[in-house]
Amino acid sequence: MKCAEAITIFDTTLRDGEQMPDVTFSPNQKLELAIALQTLGIDVIEAGFAASSAEEFSAIELMAIQLKDTGICCLARALRQDIDIAAQAIRLAEHTRIHTFIATSDIHMQHKLKLEPQAVIDQAVSAVKHARNLCDEVQFSCEDASRSDFQFLCKIIEKAIDAGASIINIPDTVGYALPQEFGILVRGLIDSIPNADKATFSVHCHNDLGLATANSLAGIQSGARQVECTMNGLGERAGNAALEEIVMAIKTHSRQFPYATNIKTEHLVSCSKAVAAAANTQPQLNKAIVGKNAFRHESGIHQDGMLKHSQTYEIISPQSVGWAEHQLVMGKLSGRNALLNKMNKLNIILPSESDFDDYFHSVKRVAAEQQVCDNTLIRLSKKY
Ligand code: KIV
Ligand code: ZN
Repeated sequence: MKCAEAITIFDTTLRDGEQMPDVTFSPNQKLELAIALQTLGIDVIEAGFAASSAEEFSAIELMAIQLKDTGICCLARALRQDIDIAAQAIRLAEHTRIHTFIATSDIHMQHKLKLEPQAVIDQAVSAVKHARNLCDEVQFSCEDASRSDFQFLCKIIEKAIDAGASIINIPDTVGYALPQEFGILVRGLIDSIPNADKATFSVHCHNDLGLATANSLAGIQSGARQVECTMNGLGERAGNAALEEIVMAIKTHSRQFPYATNIKTEHLVSCSKAVAAAANTQPQLNKAIVGKNAFRHESGIHQDGMLKHSQTYEIISPQSVGWAEHQLVMGKLSGRNALLNKMNKLNIILPSESDFDDYFHSVKRVAAEQQVCDNTLIRLSKKY
């Protein structure tokens, strides 16, 4: 049997995710989350940006010592000093990666870096060469790639690969890309850069237009074999591509995405909960896969369908991502079948069958005003 091609899942919850306003992880929280991410099956954990502070350095060092089943990556600007600190922080890891980056769009080069394009190439090349001597593998990112000149991207990436980068990351830093265009960009780079076959291409998408997952998937379909993401979509502004969405889209559409990941999907919910607790930020209720409502059904038509066959309204089984089961929620729009099902589960028996209609309507009246929990159903049944 032919094995499916692998997609590397690169998790940046502890680096880009922590860049979310009002989110900070202590070194111990980082270690706990890194262990949860390792259990989930993440291939490479971006542990942080060691040059940013002494505490960050220690947190990364701690993870590098403790985690043995996942690669440990540290971010560094394309500066010798950042790279030396990154290398020092991850030196004790089993598998080490330095991720160095520089901006490549005109707007960033002119206004932020204040550098000529050739100077940006020179800085990138010397950063990659320096990093190559200090770790197992070097990842190079062209920050703001989706708004960069295509020919310039080709040139800098070719030089970065020659200098020793074996992973080339194409970020949609400001979440500007559209899926089709982003796919064309990734394919175009892979097809045009003469030494592209010497590197794995990666995508890193932000969610400013709500397209981070779609863009990441388009990148994979165009040849990227590493995808960068965060648990719960944590990250700057509107966040990063959500790990759980990308992994479940690949799994659910295995014909369009004939790729294997190492993610043990039944750990997604527990990992999401651990990240939410440490970040002190719950995913939105209707967040795909890990939101509280992702497997809850309220309308009578849907509940009736669910009682007949769970695939009528669910494309993923809740257990496959770590929820105990789906739930039928009694609300204003709920139906009789769902109420009967709840009565069975709660062992509610009305004195006479003719009481059911009245009971059903009293439940709906309460549901129009407030949430109906199991205790409310029991209390209302006691009137009969
Ligand atoms: O969004 C971005 O461009 C980044 C880079 C550091 C890869 O996070
Ligand atoms: Zn980013």
